[in-house]
Amino acid sequence: MHKTHFSWFKTIVFTLAISEAALIFIGLQFIPYGRGHNDPSVKAEPKWDSPQTRELFFRACGDCHSNGTVWPWYGYIAPISWLIQYDIDKSRVAFNVSEWGRGKSNSNNAAETVRSGSMPPTRYTILHPSARLSASEKQAFIQGLVATFESKHESEQKGEQRDD
Ligand code: HEC
Repeated sequence: MHKTHFSWFKTIVFTLAISEAALIFIGLQFIPYGRGHNDPSVKAEPKWDSPQTRELFFRACGDCHSNGTVWPWYGYIAPISWLIQYDIDKSRVAFNVSEWGRGKSNSNNAAETVRSGSMPPTRYTILHPSARLSASEKQAFIQGLVATFESKHESEQKGEQRDD
């Protein structure tokens, strides 16, 4: 007798806990951060050295470093959507090819981040296999990034060297 009462009690507590967790989870979905996904429009793009460089960029980097983010299905579920929104906000501040010429950009390091393998981040390529580049694609992409983003940088450096 005593035993059955106890298991009823456990069932009720368990059900309440599950319901509460479910309610909290549903409640999270109403927090607007990361839910809008309203990517700003494209204002200006850099002068790509070739269509191939642009294509590789949008394949491997564009979800974070452009306004053309393609949101995955899990990007609609809080709290994952918050993490993604936060990541994209940070990436666009570092470097955004859709708002070229606006603010500061770290694009001069772009080739180096690909060479060292720090970009695209592993947390991204695990879930986006299409962003993984083959060795030859990587080589071509690095050259394209240098030509697109560092040609100005290099001529500035040459100018400095001449002054020395
Ligand atoms: C999953 C999102 C994501 C993807 C995909 C991604 N990045 Fe980034 N990137 C970031 C974040 C976040 C930062 C800012 C890092 C920080 O502030 O710590 C960043 C920073 C950078 C920077 C500035 C780093 C510096 O040293 O100043 C460059 C350059 C860069 N990324 C290039 C690339 C290139 C090139 C690709 C594609 C091959 C790429 N990223 C793909 C998220 C991403």
